[in-house]
Amino acid sequence: MSQQQLRQQYFNARASQTNAQRQLAAQQVSEHLLALPELQVPRTIASYYSVKAELPTAVLNEQLQHHGHQISLPVLHPFRRGHLLFLKLHSQTRWNTNQFGIPEPQLNVQEVVPIQQLEIILVPLVAFDAQGNRLGMGGGYYDRTLQHWYQGRHQLLPIGLAYDQQFIDHLPTQPWDIPLAMVITPSKVWDFRQ
Ligand SMILES: Nc1ncnc2c1ncn2[C@@H]1O[C@H](COP(=O)(O)OP(=O)(O)O)[C@@H](O)[C@H]1O
Ligand SMILES: [Mg+2]
Repeated sequence: MSQQQLRQQYFNARASQTNAQRQLAAQQVSEHLLALPELQVPRTIASYYSVKAELPTAVLNEQLQHHGHQISLPVLHPFRRGHLLFLKLHSQTRWNTNQFGIPEPQLNVQEVVPIQQLEIILVPLVAFDAQGNRLGMGGGYYDRTLQHWYQGRHQLLPIGLAYDQQFIDHLPTQPWDIPLAMVITPSKVWDFRQ
């Protein structure tokens, strides 16, 4: 199956969840995440604003903040095409909608969290496999973002959030694809680190 066919198949699998299943899955993933040893001290965490069929993050983001973690959300970089910036999320955050229809914090230099400061990055995905490979929406945004981490320039823990139905034994990969360190689903915490 081609990457595009796989994307369509798993995109549909993700979309087939009912609202009740979505909310339950989000709560279970949130509990697994908050219980990780890495989250027992306040962390600088990049999350995402979930849209459509993605695992919902609204409650998760609130719970993370409630536990003292600093949350930032991705914004399309204004001039580095294909790259992301991360902006702090707080009660006064003002919102814009980007070209993909995804809400993002209004660009404000003072709110930018440099990627070097991020300790954990929560990553949406369409499918993942037993090696931590990730299939995204096809924009390559997280591959570019995670490239800096992968090249060992700083410590960052990329954690994919997914429904159990998004698992596939083996994903075809491209040279630029960056694997995840962990994936959390309602039923399992996958740890791909040695
Ligand atoms: N580090 C990178 N540098 C330059 N281009 C990249 C990089 N990572 C991904 N891309 C480009 O982004 C596009 C989408 O990447 P892909 O891995 O298919 O999407 P996704 O990871 O969202 O599933 C590809 O055409 C690829 O050339
Ligand atoms: Mg990729």
